[in-house]
Amino acid sequence: MSAGTPLSASGGPSAAAAEEALEPCAMVIFGASGDLTHRMLLPALYNLALDRRLPPRFAVVGFARSDWTDDEFRRRARQSVQQFSRRPVDDAVWESFANSLFFVSGEYHQPQAHARLAALLKKVEKERGTGGNHLYYLALPPTTFPLIIGGLQKTGGIGRDHQRDGWARVIVEKPFGADLESARELNRQVHNAFREDDVYRIDHYLGKETVQNILVFRFANGIFEPIWNRRYVDHVQITVAESIGVGQRGSYYDATGALRDIVQNHMLQLLSLVAMEPPIAFNGRAVRNEKVKVLHAVRHLAGEEVDAATARGQYARGWISGQEVPGYREEDNVSPHSATETFVALRLFVDSWRWADVPFYLRTGKRLPKRSTEIAVQFKRAPHLLFRDIADVSAMEPNFLTIRIQPNEGISIKFLTKVPGSPVRIRPANMDFIYGASFLVQAPSAYETLILDALRGDATLFTRADEVEAAWSIMAGVLERWQSAPPPAFPDYEAGTWGPAGADALVERDGREWRRL
Ligand code: BG6
Repeated sequence: MSAGTPLSASGGPSAAAAEEALEPCAMVIFGASGDLTHRMLLPALYNLALDRRLPPRFAVVGFARSDWTDDEFRRRARQSVQQFSRRPVDDAVWESFANSLFFVSGEYHQPQAHARLAALLKKVEKERGTGGNHLYYLALPPTTFPLIIGGLQKTGGIGRDHQRDGWARVIVEKPFGADLESARELNRQVHNAFREDDVYRIDHYLGKETVQNILVFRFANGIFEPIWNRRYVDHVQITVAESIGVGQRGSYYDATGALRDIVQNHMLQLLSLVAMEPPIAFNGRAVRNEKVKVLHAVRHLAGEEVDAATARGQYARGWISGQEVPGYREEDNVSPHSATETFVALRLFVDSWRWADVPFYLRTGKRLPKRSTEIAVQFKRAPHLLFRDIADVSAMEPNFLTIRIQPNEGISIKFLTKVPGSPVRIRPANMDFIYGASFLVQAPSAYETLILDALRGDATLFTRADEVEAAWSIMAGVLERWQSAPPPAFPDYEAGTWGPAGADALVERDGREWRRL
């Protein structure tokens, strides 16, 4: 990690960043014919090319089982960009970008395929001056990692046994393991070949502008931090609601579920950014140290505590935006008897001086009425209800500070105000900051930000080994309890509703309610 690199430098084109000279590099994508490469990686790389943010001497080498040539890869890459880029294709930029794309077809375990890759990398190094620096992107399930890493070690693509010129970094996609044990094992495998500083575990939520802004909002302003603690905060609600179902990802999702797919990574990342102490500096080590401390402070749930502090659900057939949608068990590649959860709600406590006894309520689900990710901090009520005798107290809602991660990105503060005229009437009002209205530039996609950071050697926005393990250890008691309990009576919420009744009961037991979104 490049110590001291400002977080914001990777957030979008700026005069300073435009002058930044990136080291030459060849980026190798394992899984280059897959969905992630098609939807996210190639469009992100093209947008970086459009902004002239890629290294001047750069190449992308796709590696996959598909029997493609360089030309076929380029043709398909153009389709990816046409379909998924946030900006249209510019022919001149495309031409030069396409010339930097190469392809190797082969099996991940085949020595011959790795030999072909090594030969191509040598050729690319000569022709495009990529300088022996390699950024490997593992856009594949973790079962392939040992094969790929083993292959690279044998051909000298990485490894401590080989004298190499240039650096080798690796970007690893989620899911990083399926539980604490498998995450530890993956860390061991990756560390066999890479130093931790060269490992970039992706959680694409950290690349989102609004997520990065949590740190700026909290620590660049003087007015919020003094009230950001148990003395003033009643509780925090973090919601990741999706209206989509599992689509074509049934086989992955059915073996995974919402707890592993969203809570263990994206939601615990949001929680750590909201709950962390101010880091001593804005660099990868300091920021991640503080996030890890939060994860270590999260109280682990076990046995019956899990039943009281969690709710899980699975969607049944229902209606979303006027369209009838199938139930989870009717989706492609999903077992008709599946016990996989598509909804999770849970209550966590961060046992620290700052947050003791403040509940953090988390909920996420597929096929909810709308797409909405937000963090809402509810403050305690005013200590003395001065207006009790002259105004309707039931209208006196508590103050909320809401960070809208997506869509309609922004931050709002809800406070009480007097309705003009007499008698005194009190109503909530909002102070609203809306990104789209305040900044007229389009934000880069999370993948643009994260790929650029990896090219720059800045791991601030990536998950560290101890962090990923700490996050899994929070999940361990819940996974164990859920596995040992009898199968839940699924499906238990209709598509297009806000989840199972258990989710409401979870907060209502504490005398609270979920925010209406
Ligand atoms: C992915 C999950 O990590 O995040 C998906 O695997 C989920 O199931 C997606 O749909 C949500 O990402 P975003 O950026 O649309 O909120």
